[in-house]
Order: sequence, then C-alpha cells, then structure tokens
Amino acid sequence: MIAAALLGAAAPFSAAAGEKDLTDKGEMLVRENCARCHAIGLTGASPLKEAPPFRTLSAKYPIENLAESLAEGIVSGHPDMPIFVFETPEVDAIIAYLESIQVTPEPAEPGIPGE
Ligand code: HEC
Repeated sequence: MIAAALLGAAAPFSAAAGEKDLTDKGEMLVRENCARCHAIGLTGASPLKEAPPFRTLSAKYPIENLAESLAEGIVSGHPDMPIFVFETPEVDAIIAYLESIQVTPEPAEPGIPGE
C-alpha cells in the first residue's frame, strides 16, 4: 500500500526533473557558445548590441524553427556570428532553454509540426 503510493508519487517528480535537466543543459550550452554576444537570460542587454537577446527571439519566429538551423549550422548572414552545428540532444536542450526564457507569448500560428 505504502510502496504503491510512493511509486505513484515518484513518477511526476522524475518527469519534471528530466525537463529541468534539459533546460539546464541548454542554458549551459548557450552560456558557453552564445553568451559572449547574446543576452541569454531573462534580463540584461546583449554584450554585442547587434545580437538579439535570446528572450526576444520568439517575437520573430517560433523557437522550434531554430532547431533545424542549429542542427544544420546557423548562418545569420552576419560576419560576427560564427557557424554552429549541434547534435540533436544539444539542439533539444537549447530549444527547451530558449522556450523557457521567452518574454512574449509565441505567435498563435497554426503550427506546422515537424517542419
Ligand atoms: C560572435 C558573436 C555571436 C555569437 C558567439 C553568437 N551569435 Fe547569434 N548573432 C550574432 C549577431 C551579431 C546577430 C545579429 C545578426 C543580424 O542581425 O544579421 C545574431 C543573430 C542570431 C539569431 C537571430 C537570427 C535572425 O534571423 O534573426 C539567432 C537565432 C542567433 N543569433 C542564435 C545564436 C546561437 C544559438 C548562438 C550560440 C550557439 C549564437 N547565436 C552565438 C552574434 C553572435
């Protein structure tokens, strides 16, 4: 009886911990790779003023659209920004982190899943 209750209680906690690990990993990745130019947190200006703060990215396009660019090599057309290529688990982590810091709600578009 008690064991079953404990098991039942444990499941939601571990799911939440997994989610948190993912955003933590994403935060670490952007801190290492992007923070010298972009503001990566909920406040603050970008160190490089041409680089958009990450929390504002969803104002331009849905964050998921970035997944492809991150996996294939992001090219912003700006010479200051190096080309990055990330592995899928890293992309997932970065996307999860970026989604967690957006200040404006994502545009309510009828999404095109999987594109
Ligand atoms: C050396 C500086 C630098 C680094 C490092 C850097 N960026 Fe950028 N990034 C820029 C600049 C400058 C722009 C603005 C480009 C423009 O407006 O043409 C930009 C723009 C962007 C954009 C917006 C592109 C668009 O179409 O609006 C995204 C998304 C982005 N960067 C993601 C990243 C990610 C993710 C990382 C880390 C993996 C990163 N950047 C690292 C300088 C940098």
